Amino acid sequence: MPFLTVDNISVNFRGVKALAGVSFSVEEHSIFSVIGPNGSGKTTLFNLINGIYKPDRGRIVFQGTDISRLSPDRIARRGIARTFQNIELFSRASVMDNLLLGRHIHMRCGVFSGAFMWGRRSRAAREEIENRESVEAVMEFLGISPLRDHPVVNLPYGKRKLVELGRALALEPRLLLLDEPTAGMSADEKKDLDVRIRAIRDQYKATIILIEHDMGVVMGLSDTVLAIDQGRVIAEGKPREVQSHPDVVKAYLGS
Ligand SMILES: Nc1ncnc2c1ncn2[C@@H]1O[C@H](COP(=O)(O)OP(=O)(O)OP(=O)(O)O)[C@@H](O)[C@H]1O
Ligand SMILES: [Mg+2]
Repeated sequence: MPFLTVDNISVNFRGVKALAGVSFSVEEHSIFSVIGPNGSGKTTLFNLINGIYKPDRGRIVFQGTDISRLSPDRIARRGIARTFQNIELFSRASVMDNLLLGRHIHMRCGVFSGAFMWGRRSRAAREEIENRESVEAVMEFLGISPLRDHPVVNLPYGKRKLVELGRALALEPRLLLLDEPTAGMSADEKKDLDVRIRAIRDQYKATIILIEHDMGVVMGLSDTVLAIDQGRVIAEGKPREVQSHPDVVKAYLGS
Protein backbone atom coordinates (compact mmCIF):
# COMPACT_ATOMS: atom_id res chain seq x y z
CA MET A 1 0.00 0.00 0.00
CA PRO A 2 1.51 3.41 -0.92
CA PHE A 3 1.94 5.82 1.96
CA LEU A 4 0.25 8.70 0.13
CA THR A 5 -1.50 8.60 -3.22
CA VAL A 6 -2.77 11.68 -4.99
CA ASP A 7 -5.11 10.36 -7.65
CA ASN A 8 -6.18 12.52 -10.57
CA ILE A 9 -6.80 15.66 -8.49
CA SER A 10 -8.37 18.73 -10.07
CA VAL A 11 -9.41 22.03 -8.51
CA ASN A 12 -10.67 25.25 -10.07
CA PHE A 13 -10.91 28.76 -8.66
CA ARG A 14 -13.50 30.82 -10.52
CA GLY A 15 -12.70 29.15 -13.81
CA VAL A 16 -8.93 29.08 -13.23
CA LYS A 17 -7.63 25.51 -13.27
CA ALA A 18 -5.15 25.53 -10.39
CA LEU A 19 -4.62 21.75 -10.68
CA ALA A 20 -5.78 19.62 -13.59
CA GLY A 21 -5.54 15.86 -13.18
CA VAL A 22 -2.48 15.58 -10.93
CA SER A 23 -1.45 12.07 -9.84
CA PHE A 24 1.56 10.76 -7.91
CA SER A 25 2.51 8.54 -4.98
CA VAL A 26 4.90 9.12 -2.11
CA GLU A 27 6.80 6.32 -0.40
CA GLU A 28 7.05 6.16 3.35
CA HIS A 29 10.25 7.66 4.86
CA SER A 30 11.17 9.38 1.62
CA ILE A 31 11.84 13.03 0.86
CA PHE A 32 9.64 13.97 -2.07
CA SER A 33 10.04 17.42 -3.63
CA VAL A 34 7.58 19.41 -5.68
CA ILE A 35 9.01 22.02 -8.02
CA GLY A 36 7.47 24.32 -10.60
CA PRO A 37 7.31 27.98 -11.61
CA ASN A 38 5.34 30.56 -9.61
CA GLY A 39 1.62 29.95 -9.76
CA SER A 40 1.98 26.36 -11.02
CA GLY A 41 -0.18 24.95 -8.21
CA LYS A 42 2.33 23.75 -5.60
CA THR A 43 0.79 25.42 -2.54
CA THR A 44 -2.68 24.47 -3.79
CA LEU A 45 -1.54 20.86 -3.67
CA PHE A 46 -0.62 21.25 0.02
CA ASN A 47 -3.93 22.98 0.72
CA LEU A 48 -5.69 19.93 -0.73
CA ILE A 49 -3.58 17.37 1.13
CA ASN A 50 -4.17 19.07 4.48
CA GLY A 51 -7.85 19.71 3.85
CA ILE A 52 -7.99 23.50 3.52
CA TYR A 53 -9.34 23.02 -0.03
CA LYS A 54 -11.50 20.19 -1.35
CA PRO A 55 -10.82 18.80 -4.81
CA ASP A 56 -13.41 19.15 -7.58
CA ARG A 57 -12.30 15.76 -8.84
CA GLY A 58 -9.95 12.98 -7.73
CA ARG A 59 -8.94 11.67 -4.32
CA ILE A 60 -6.09 11.71 -1.85
CA VAL A 61 -5.46 8.45 -0.04
CA PHE A 62 -3.26 8.52 3.07
CA GLN A 63 -2.30 5.16 4.59
CA GLY A 64 -5.28 3.49 2.95
CA THR A 65 -7.89 6.14 3.90
CA ASP A 66 -9.45 8.64 1.53
CA ILE A 67 -8.77 11.97 3.29
CA SER A 68 -9.87 14.30 0.51
CA ARG A 69 -13.18 15.18 2.21
CA LEU A 70 -11.91 15.36 5.81
CA SER A 71 -11.52 18.62 7.75
CA PRO A 72 -8.01 20.02 8.34
CA ASP A 73 -8.30 19.06 12.02
CA ARG A 74 -9.11 15.41 11.27
CA ILE A 75 -6.28 15.30 8.78
CA ALA A 76 -3.90 16.70 11.42
CA ARG A 77 -5.08 13.97 13.79
CA ARG A 78 -4.03 11.40 11.23
CA GLY A 79 -0.50 12.79 11.49
CA ILE A 80 -0.17 15.30 8.66
CA ALA A 81 1.49 18.61 9.62
CA ARG A 82 2.62 21.51 7.50
CA THR A 83 4.43 24.80 7.41
CA PHE A 84 3.24 27.77 5.38
CA GLN A 85 4.92 29.76 2.64
CA ASN A 86 4.16 32.92 4.61
CA ILE A 87 4.96 32.06 8.20
CA GLU A 88 1.80 31.63 10.26
CA LEU A 89 2.48 31.87 13.98
CA PHE A 90 0.94 33.55 17.01
CA SER A 91 3.41 36.38 16.91
CA ARG A 92 2.80 37.81 20.41
CA ALA A 93 3.01 34.38 22.05
CA SER A 94 6.33 32.82 23.07
CA VAL A 95 8.20 30.19 21.12
CA MET A 96 7.20 27.62 23.74
CA ASP A 97 3.49 28.48 23.52
CA ASN A 98 3.53 28.34 19.73
CA LEU A 99 5.01 24.85 19.89
CA LEU A 100 2.53 23.77 22.56
CA LEU A 101 -0.30 24.89 20.27
CA GLY A 102 1.17 22.59 17.64
CA ARG A 103 0.45 19.69 20.02
CA HIS A 104 -3.27 20.42 20.32
CA ILE A 105 -4.17 17.10 18.70
CA HIS A 106 -2.46 15.27 21.56
CA MET A 107 -4.32 17.21 24.23
CA ARG A 108 -7.45 15.81 25.78
CA CYS A 109 -7.66 18.39 28.52
CA GLY A 110 -7.40 21.61 26.52
CA VAL A 111 -4.41 23.69 25.65
CA PHE A 112 -3.78 25.56 28.87
CA SER A 113 -5.71 23.43 31.36
CA GLY A 114 -2.43 22.23 32.88
CA ALA A 115 -2.09 25.67 34.39
CA PHE A 116 -5.02 24.84 36.69
CA MET A 117 -3.58 21.79 38.37
CA TRP A 118 -5.58 20.06 41.10
CA GLY A 119 -2.63 18.03 42.22
CA ARG A 120 0.46 16.62 40.66
CA ARG A 121 -1.25 13.40 39.70
CA SER A 122 -4.18 14.93 37.83
CA ARG A 123 -4.56 13.95 34.23
CA ALA A 124 -4.23 17.56 33.10
CA ALA A 125 -0.99 17.90 35.04
CA ARG A 126 0.46 14.72 33.59
CA GLU A 127 -0.55 15.79 30.11
CA GLU A 128 0.97 19.21 30.63
CA ILE A 129 4.28 17.66 31.68
CA GLU A 130 4.25 15.28 28.73
CA ASN A 131 3.53 18.10 26.30
CA ARG A 132 6.23 20.32 27.74
CA GLU A 133 8.81 17.53 27.59
CA SER A 134 7.95 16.78 24.02
CA VAL A 135 8.14 20.45 23.04
CA GLU A 136 11.47 20.83 24.91
CA ALA A 137 12.84 17.95 22.83
CA VAL A 138 11.72 19.61 19.60
CA MET A 139 13.31 22.94 20.64
CA GLU A 140 16.52 21.11 21.51
CA PHE A 141 16.49 19.33 18.16
CA LEU A 142 16.10 22.63 16.29
CA GLY A 143 18.57 24.53 18.47
CA ILE A 144 15.98 27.08 19.62
CA SER A 145 15.75 26.17 23.33
CA PRO A 146 17.37 29.44 24.46
CA LEU A 147 14.53 31.30 22.71
CA ARG A 148 11.74 29.44 24.50
CA ASP A 149 10.32 32.49 26.32
CA HIS A 150 10.80 35.00 23.53
CA PRO A 151 7.73 36.36 21.76
CA VAL A 152 7.93 35.17 18.18
CA VAL A 153 7.41 38.70 16.87
CA ASN A 154 10.87 39.74 18.12
CA LEU A 155 12.76 36.97 16.33
CA PRO A 156 14.63 37.32 13.05
CA TYR A 157 13.04 35.70 9.98
CA GLY A 158 15.26 32.60 9.89
CA LYS A 159 14.42 31.81 13.54
CA ARG A 160 10.71 32.29 12.94
CA LYS A 161 10.94 29.78 10.10
CA LEU A 162 12.49 27.33 12.59
CA VAL A 163 9.74 27.99 15.13
CA GLU A 164 7.14 27.23 12.49
CA LEU A 165 8.94 24.02 11.67
CA GLY A 166 8.98 23.27 15.40
CA ARG A 167 5.24 23.78 15.66
CA ALA A 168 4.70 21.29 12.84
CA LEU A 169 7.12 18.80 14.46
CA ALA A 170 5.40 19.14 17.83
CA LEU A 171 2.44 17.36 16.26
CA GLU A 172 4.72 14.31 15.84
CA PRO A 173 3.74 14.04 12.18
CA ARG A 174 3.94 10.95 10.02
CA LEU A 175 3.80 13.21 6.98
CA LEU A 176 5.33 16.68 7.03
CA LEU A 177 4.54 19.21 4.30
CA LEU A 178 7.12 21.99 4.02
CA ASP A 179 6.20 24.94 1.78
CA GLU A 180 9.43 26.70 0.76
CA PRO A 181 11.20 26.22 4.10
CA THR A 182 14.46 27.82 2.94
CA ALA A 183 12.93 30.89 1.28
CA GLY A 184 14.62 34.05 2.52
CA MET A 185 17.31 32.15 4.43
CA SER A 186 21.05 32.80 4.22
CA ALA A 187 23.34 30.19 2.61
CA ASP A 188 24.43 28.99 6.07
CA GLU A 189 20.85 28.72 7.34
CA LYS A 190 19.94 26.73 4.20
CA LYS A 191 22.77 24.28 4.74
CA ASP A 192 21.73 23.87 8.34
CA LEU A 193 18.11 23.24 7.41
CA ASP A 194 19.17 20.70 4.80
CA VAL A 195 20.80 18.64 7.56
CA ARG A 196 17.79 19.05 9.84
CA ILE A 197 15.28 17.94 7.21
CA ARG A 198 17.25 14.72 6.75
CA ALA A 199 17.35 14.30 10.52
CA ILE A 200 13.58 14.83 10.73
CA ARG A 201 13.10 11.93 8.39
CA ASP A 202 15.52 9.70 10.31
CA GLN A 203 14.81 10.63 13.95
CA TYR A 204 11.13 11.48 13.75
CA LYS A 205 10.50 8.70 11.21
CA ALA A 206 8.56 11.17 9.12
CA THR A 207 7.90 11.28 5.41
CA ILE A 208 8.51 14.70 3.92
CA ILE A 209 7.01 16.54 0.97
CA LEU A 210 9.00 19.64 0.20
CA ILE A 211 8.08 22.57 -2.03
CA GLU A 212 11.35 24.28 -2.82
CA HIS A 213 12.70 26.75 -5.34
CA ASP A 214 16.38 26.35 -4.42
CA MET A 215 17.61 23.69 -6.83
CA GLY A 216 20.71 23.03 -4.73
CA VAL A 217 18.50 22.08 -1.79
CA VAL A 218 16.18 20.01 -4.02
CA MET A 219 19.04 18.11 -5.66
CA GLY A 220 20.77 17.36 -2.40
CA LEU A 221 17.74 16.24 -0.40
CA SER A 222 15.18 14.57 -2.62
CA ASP A 223 14.62 10.91 -3.30
CA THR A 224 12.00 11.84 -5.91
CA VAL A 225 11.09 15.10 -7.60
CA LEU A 226 7.74 16.02 -9.14
CA ALA A 227 7.66 18.98 -11.52
CA ILE A 228 4.39 20.73 -12.21
CA ASP A 229 3.54 23.56 -14.56
CA GLN A 230 0.16 25.23 -14.94
CA GLY A 231 -1.49 22.65 -12.73
CA ARG A 232 -0.19 19.59 -14.59
CA VAL A 233 2.63 17.13 -13.94
CA ILE A 234 5.39 17.62 -16.50
CA ALA A 235 8.02 15.28 -15.03
CA GLU A 236 8.61 12.89 -12.15
CA GLY A 237 11.68 10.88 -11.19
CA LYS A 238 15.16 11.09 -9.72
CA PRO A 239 16.35 14.68 -9.09
CA ARG A 240 18.87 14.76 -11.96
CA GLU A 241 16.45 13.29 -14.48
CA VAL A 242 13.78 15.84 -13.62
CA GLN A 243 16.20 18.77 -13.54
CA SER A 244 17.37 18.09 -17.09
CA HIS A 245 13.95 17.11 -18.48
CA PRO A 246 13.27 19.32 -21.53
CA ASP A 247 9.77 20.31 -20.34
CA VAL A 248 11.15 21.33 -16.95
CA VAL A 249 13.90 23.41 -18.53
CA LYS A 250 11.32 25.03 -20.79
CA ALA A 251 8.89 25.77 -17.91
CA TYR A 252 11.61 27.53 -15.93
CA LEU A 253 12.98 29.47 -18.88
CA GLY A 254 9.48 30.57 -19.80
CA SER A 255 8.59 31.83 -16.34
N1 LIG B 1 -7.96 30.55 -2.87
C1 LIG B 1 -7.70 30.83 -4.15
N2 LIG B 1 -8.54 31.59 -4.88
C2 LIG B 1 -8.29 31.89 -6.16
N3 LIG B 1 -7.22 31.46 -6.83
C3 LIG B 1 -6.33 30.71 -6.17
C4 LIG B 1 -6.51 30.34 -4.80
N4 LIG B 1 -5.46 29.59 -4.39
C5 LIG B 1 -4.66 29.48 -5.47
N5 LIG B 1 -5.17 30.15 -6.53
C6 LIG B 1 -4.59 30.22 -7.90
O1 LIG B 1 -4.13 28.94 -8.25
C7 LIG B 1 -2.92 29.02 -8.98
C8 LIG B 1 -1.83 28.23 -8.26
O2 LIG B 1 -1.44 28.93 -7.07
P1 LIG B 1 -0.44 28.32 -6.01
O3 LIG B 1 -0.40 29.24 -4.85
O4 LIG B 1 -0.81 26.91 -5.75
O5 LIG B 1 0.93 28.38 -6.81
P2 LIG B 1 2.42 28.03 -6.33
O6 LIG B 1 2.94 27.02 -7.27
O7 LIG B 1 2.43 27.71 -4.90
O8 LIG B 1 3.17 29.42 -6.61
P3 LIG B 1 4.40 30.12 -5.81
O9 LIG B 1 5.66 29.45 -6.30
O10 LIG B 1 4.33 31.53 -6.25
O11 LIG B 1 4.16 29.95 -4.35
C9 LIG B 1 -2.60 30.49 -9.13
O12 LIG B 1 -3.12 30.93 -10.37
C10 LIG B 1 -3.36 31.11 -7.97
O13 LIG B 1 -3.69 32.44 -8.25
MG1 LIG C 1 3.30 28.54 -3.24
